[in-house]
Amino acid sequence: MASALDLAAELGHERVLLISDRAAGLRAVVAIHSTTLGPGVGGTRVRAYPSFDGAVIDALLLSRAMTFKSAYAGLPLGGAKAVIDADPATAKTPALLEAFARATAELEGRFVTGGDMGIEPDDLRFMARFSRVFEHAPAGGAGPDPSELTAIGVQAAIGAVAARLGKPLAGLEVAIQGVGEVGGRLARRLAAAGARLTLADAQPARARELAAELGAAQAAPETILETRCDILSPNAAGGVLDEASAERLACRAVVGAANNPLASAYVGYDLAARGILYAPDFVVSAGGVLSLLGERGELDEAGLRARVERIGADLAELLDAAEREGVPPFRLAERRVEERLAAARAARRRG
Ligand code: PHE
Repeated sequence: MASALDLAAELGHERVLLISDRAAGLRAVVAIHSTTLGPGVGGTRVRAYPSFDGAVIDALLLSRAMTFKSAYAGLPLGGAKAVIDADPATAKTPALLEAFARATAELEGRFVTGGDMGIEPDDLRFMARFSRVFEHAPAGGAGPDPSELTAIGVQAAIGAVAARLGKPLAGLEVAIQGVGEVGGRLARRLAAAGARLTLADAQPARARELAAELGAAQAAPETILETRCDILSPNAAGGVLDEASAERLACRAVVGAANNPLASAYVGYDLAARGILYAPDFVVSAGGVLSLLGERGELDEAGLRARVERIGADLAELLDAAEREGVPPFRLAERRVEERLAAARAARRRG
């Protein structure tokens, strides 16, 4: 465990809660990275990891990304993430969900959670019976769901990047990695706008069916990153762009909802040096966390959609500013968040 705790220290986490409930088959981690701007917000992910240490490391990195996501979006919220190390297809029992939800109750007021990979709206409604950390999770029925909002935001970001590439969405070539809750909705929206798509998924049948329905091409999971296209859109796991895979990209830009797609900052600089525009993930994918503004009654459905669509204009502004300053957009976006956090900490010290 030493290595994961060293990482938590390096990334500046406030609190890391390990949860073990043998009877329920539960092994989980809640990482609260920062509450400087407000309660730490982040989805609950259910995924089987090669080792529990892997789950902890993912929670640490994802919770830090959530701090950046909510701060960049201007929300009065910090960053957190929960990871349940279990196969969502076979091990997500009511006993497991209840045990997890009860264990999070001690974090009420400091942690707010919702959906993520491997979690369905029904799971959230069930867990909300046992802990208030789920109270702003979609109650169902009211308003667009967070996955749809995330897809709307990614589409707006793709539109902004396409404009810079001098192309309309109609005819734009987009390769989508992952056609699950977000990637699948994004594919439908882009197809309706006339984009030419290539789809891939870790479950190839899922990509095949959607490709047939949308008249899109299909690629194998192993080759989707190498697809010649205008925009590559990662919408599945993190860390997919490492030194080796980044070398083989055949796109002009990367714009997707996957959290932490860059395996390292090195890759971010390398893409910039090679003229591949990387739109920062935590700017592009804020639609999900912005859905909380709807759940809290701060925005109605039209206001929420308009706010999420503004991700496109916000990204265009970031890209212009980054070009003026001669830094990769992801670095400028990180710097803006670091400045906002430093200002909040200074204000707190003063007052
Ligand atoms: N899972 C979302 C993300 O990764 C975050 C989220 C939190 C969504 C709470 C809805 C509610 O951005």
